[in-house]
Amino acid sequence: MTFNQKQQLDTSKDYIVPIRKNNLKTVKDILPIANPDFDGSFSEHLLLYGKNGNRIYLLGLGEDKHDAKLEEAFRKLCVDTQKNWDKSIQIYANDLNDQQIRKAIIGLQLAQYEIGEYKSTKAKAFTSAVSICTSANIDAVLNEGELIGQTINRIKALVDAPPNIKTPEFLAKWSDDSAKSANYKCTVLDEKELESQGFKAVLAVGKGSVNKPVVIFNEYKGRTDKDVDLVLVGKGITFDSGGLSIKPSTNLHYMKSDMGGAAVVLGIIELIAKLHLNVNVTGIVCSAENAVDAASYRPGDVIESYSGKTIEIIDTDAEGRLVMSDGLSYAVKNIKPKYLIDIATLTGSVVRTLGYSAAGMFTHNKEMAQTFSEIGYKVNERVWPLPLFEDFESDLHSDIADIRNFSGKPIAGAINAAKFLEAFTDNHENWMHLDIAGVSFGDSPYAKMKSSSGYGIQLFLEFIKTLESK
Ligand code: BES
Ligand code: ZN
Ligand code: ZN
Repeated sequence: MTFNQKQQLDTSKDYIVPIRKNNLKTVKDILPIANPDFDGSFSEHLLLYGKNGNRIYLLGLGEDKHDAKLEEAFRKLCVDTQKNWDKSIQIYANDLNDQQIRKAIIGLQLAQYEIGEYKSTKAKAFTSAVSICTSANIDAVLNEGELIGQTINRIKALVDAPPNIKTPEFLAKWSDDSAKSANYKCTVLDEKELESQGFKAVLAVGKGSVNKPVVIFNEYKGRTDKDVDLVLVGKGITFDSGGLSIKPSTNLHYMKSDMGGAAVVLGIIELIAKLHLNVNVTGIVCSAENAVDAASYRPGDVIESYSGKTIEIIDTDAEGRLVMSDGLSYAVKNIKPKYLIDIATLTGSVVRTLGYSAAGMFTHNKEMAQTFSEIGYKVNERVWPLPLFEDFESDLHSDIADIRNFSGKPIAGAINAAKFLEAFTDNHENWMHLDIAGVSFGDSPYAKMKSSSGYGIQLFLEFIKTLESK
């Protein structure tokens, strides 16, 4: 699918007319009949035919509150009707603002996502050209919408990929290829280098798998100075069996999605590099497979970590916080960024707390919390604050090591995990942890089983844009 701009709508060809709820009158001049059976409810669509037999799709935009998820209306219209579209289709966009146009393009791109990548016969790619018809200057919006949509599709493909293919090494190769095409620097530490540099927690988690762990560093420098504005650390567990503290088998196949945080980090660095944003951002992906094997790390083990702190393992299924702790320690020791954010499918507890509606957000920084909260609503990738009370510190006390990886209590799991991570941030003032276990992967209108949501790309893009002017 390609996108271009046209100044004038050609009413003799196919076109889409986006319409706000109960606002048919604003577009009456380009409708073939005066009173179609259509009220503009969100994501409703109706096909009318013009004088030439051309197709005119009325698309309901609903009310203002629906703007945050506008892409869904365009995605659905496209999926439902694109088989009948001509070689080109127009969107009447004179009444749409930049944000709406961007979301419209994202939605059309999302409709191209092919979930059946591993089927032996593949669906045909859709090749129509889409013309956005408006007299406004939308060059930047067009480019951005197209790239955001592509990036979301690329990270969805990663998260939905099977774990026998999507090994830590596979993520490293993806990243290396991406860095070459989008022009940023990618460095991959393999097992040997992880040993020599002391990524002991990552190594412990990866010990039980034949697919060896990696840590991936993706550096995008949009500014000439050296200071790093933001480090993003992502959890890249390519399959989480639970390790020796093995998980029940029901839904275990979904644990291929335990690298959702890593996918966001990989995707966002690629995206901001393609958009040439005026910021310096580094992504750190800590990737391992948590497998069951004679060589696996055990409950009861005491392991070392990048920070030098020793960790008593209570539960090998609390592996995400271990790999993430090494990434965070590396960032605060060696990069010292202005902002430090980690993103991880970290706990089942956050799913029980917030369901599929928002990521759990942990930070001491009120301004960051406010910014993320506002952006989250705006792009429909919401966050909800959870506390980092000192009360929870004693839960991570270990008699024999510096800290333990699980409280052993069936309460406040997401908070405990966040408190564990906090211990490796050296009290960084601008640290935030996002637990995306509930929002990264779930039900969707286009798949029978759970699949990737693409959560996080729009949230981080908008946040990183706020850093350009700081
Ligand atoms: N990867 C899981 C968390 C998860 C659960 C992600 C459901 C997505 C959906 C994580 O590694 C895990 O197993 N966490 C345990 C921690 C516990 C053993 C302390 C959990 O939350 O139950
Ligand atoms: Zn786990
Ligand atoms: Zn996990």
